[in-house]
Amino acid sequence: MAQKIVLVTGGTGLVGKAIETVSQTQQYQQFNKYRFIFLSSKDCNLTDYIATDNYFDKTRPSYVIHLAANVGGLFKNMNSKVQMFEDNMMINMNILKCCHKYNVEKVVSCLSTCIFPDKTTYPINEEMLHNGPPHTSNDAYEYAKRMIEVQSKAYNEQYGNKFVCVIPTNIYGPYDNFHLQDGHVIPSLIHKCYLAKKTNQPFIVSGTGNPLRQFIYSDDLARLMLWALENYDGSESIILSVNENDEVSIGDVAREIAHNFDYEEHLVFDTTKPDGQYRKTADNSKLRKLYGEYTFVDIKDGIKLSVDWFIKNYDVCRK
Ligand SMILES: NC(=O)c1ccc[n+]([C@@H]2O[C@H](COP(=O)([O-])OP(=O)(O)OC[C@H]3O[C@@H](n4cnc5c(N)ncnc54)[C@H](OP(=O)(O)O)[C@@H]3O)[C@@H](O)[C@H]2O)c1
Repeated sequence: MAQKIVLVTGGTGLVGKAIETVSQTQQYQQFNKYRFIFLSSKDCNLTDYIATDNYFDKTRPSYVIHLAANVGGLFKNMNSKVQMFEDNMMINMNILKCCHKYNVEKVVSCLSTCIFPDKTTYPINEEMLHNGPPHTSNDAYEYAKRMIEVQSKAYNEQYGNKFVCVIPTNIYGPYDNFHLQDGHVIPSLIHKCYLAKKTNQPFIVSGTGNPLRQFIYSDDLARLMLWALENYDGSESIILSVNENDEVSIGDVAREIAHNFDYEEHLVFDTTKPDGQYRKTADNSKLRKLYGEYTFVDIKDGIKLSVDWFIKNYDVCRK
């Protein structure tokens, strides 16, 4: 049987690298079913339609896992709204247009629980995505992301394509962006604690540490995205998240990071800083119904793996 090509856009990022790791496990190697291509922006600038079309013509993928996005922290989202909107709209538009043109059998695109309405009820579920405007601080990015679902459904309805979307919660793991401002909470706190210890300063965490979040380890998300590629055909999106009772506080995350650096006594919460939203619970019951019970990497183990990776790759990682 001919090998099917799986093109992973954003193949050099946090999730792309996890898919690379998981694709090398026995489960995906034993039948030699797939050949994975991990696309970097250096291989093809996906904001450029001609370049994207040429790349699809050259590689002819059967499946696409679409991860590529211009992503950033709050600062970038607030101050580069035009780029966040236009880059993401163009990337998604070009990818889905080419997937249709080159008869890609299935596309799994990545949304995010952070693009849900600002004012909503919790837990959030798949049906609530378009029920109100996102928070104004990153609305340009969030609207652009929401449009992947709109565009995917339009292709499915009009042309019978199989374009599905998955919605992960906060992701962390090796190959993350450990930038102090632009990184997400776990990688930026890992970097902060590393520097605090190195310079013998307190490890200061903004806020009370009370807000709760669901974190998914990147390899778990990669396994679930590959499961979705093979098994999930719904036109409605599906939330990929740990269970509701696996929410952890930012304080516990910070304590665990400090513990891994053996720096717990120097952890300080700066309660003069705002906390942000108290919780953003996502409901993963659709996943549990379709997949069954999935055993997620425990947050303590995931943080240890991430801290170890960061220390080992300090000179070369994104930070
Ligand atoms: N991280 C999270 O907590 C989180 C949570 C929910 C959802 N998500 C979603 O998950 C997906 C993957 O996120 P991630 O954290 O893995 O992102 P990431 O680490 O920041 O990686 C972004 C990827 O996109 C590629 N890219 C950016 N602009 C491109 C362009 N113009 N052309 C081609 N490739 C381009 C980058 O390629 P180069 O590195 O080669 O430039 C990189 O591989 C994204 O869609 C994101 O919205 C992330």
